Amino acid sequence: MRQKILHRLCNASGGYVSGNELAESMGISRVAVWKHIEALKAEGYDISGTSGRGYTLKNRNNIIIPDQIKKSLDELSIVNNLKHFSCVDSTNKAARRLLEKGQIEAGTLITTNLQTEGKGRRGRQWESPAGGLAFSLVIKPPLPIHQIPLLSLVFAVAVCQGLNSFLSQPCQIKWPNDVYAGGKKVVGILLELSGELDRPDYVIAGIGINVNTSREQFSEDVQNLSGSLHEIENSGFSLTSVLVEVLRQLDHYYGIFLQEGFGEILSEFKNNCWHLGQPISLNQGGRVISGINTDIDENGSLLIYTGGKIEKLSTGDVSVI
Ligand code: BTN
Repeated sequence: MRQKILHRLCNASGGYVSGNELAESMGISRVAVWKHIEALKAEGYDISGTSGRGYTLKNRNNIIIPDQIKKSLDELSIVNNLKHFSCVDSTNKAARRLLEKGQIEAGTLITTNLQTEGKGRRGRQWESPAGGLAFSLVIKPPLPIHQIPLLSLVFAVAVCQGLNSFLSQPCQIKWPNDVYAGGKKVVGILLELSGELDRPDYVIAGIGINVNTSREQFSEDVQNLSGSLHEIENSGFSLTSVLVEVLRQLDHYYGIFLQEGFGEILSEFKNNCWHLGQPISLNQGGRVISGINTDIDENGSLLIYTGGKIEKLSTGDVSVI
């Protein structure tokens, strides 16, 4: 019922729907409508009521509309089920909990309007202020274990392409899977495995995108490094539309990866890679390798010319010099 009310509010011509209209179209009393509206407000939806005009939903860009996402799932193979939380600690943690209880299967998308304890790579925290998109996709790739890490690069290409439909300048990828726009990080991707180390059952692909966030919403450390689509384009975007477009691209590139292998995607990765052919430093937990990033191979490893020899490296944090 609440989703129906949200849907009506989102599509209200003139922005307002009266309590009477909602009550009649749903076959419930006005008091029941009021109770649902109060519950939606408690979930974080910015709804206000004005006597004579009815209810209106403000900041609709910044919320996920589950019904709209569900509609687009028919077109996709990678997702077939949606689990939406109005608020959750972390969509990746929620996915793991639900998997452990056997309550979800591969093909589940976990979304939220508010993530309070986002996880980043290497044990770092991921800040998820309002206006950001945070979701996780649970998949069971029919792949040998050594190919699983390639998903990082595949998903980076997909997210990059998805965001390009909203941006006037193309995104760039910082190996292995950070997506940058306007010189700032706008996306973080965290892939986690569930099951046994040598025989993982599921991959939980968590993706955070700074869509409508602004600099002041982040801690000082993050402020200088991260940007948002809104800051780059000077206009807001619907989180739901961005999510649907990114899901389409994830579906597309995951399909290519499974059917045709990594080769096709590797060339797109290289085309979008920020630092290919440039001097970089790779920090491997304290060991720093500096040189020219001459290539990326078919296993997704970075080739770095360090003067005299080429090193092939598959882990670490890249800094572009
Ligand atoms: C990074 O450190 O760059 C990766 C950040 C990944 C953040 C996303 S937000 C959705 C999902 N849930 C989490 O707790 N983390 C990932």
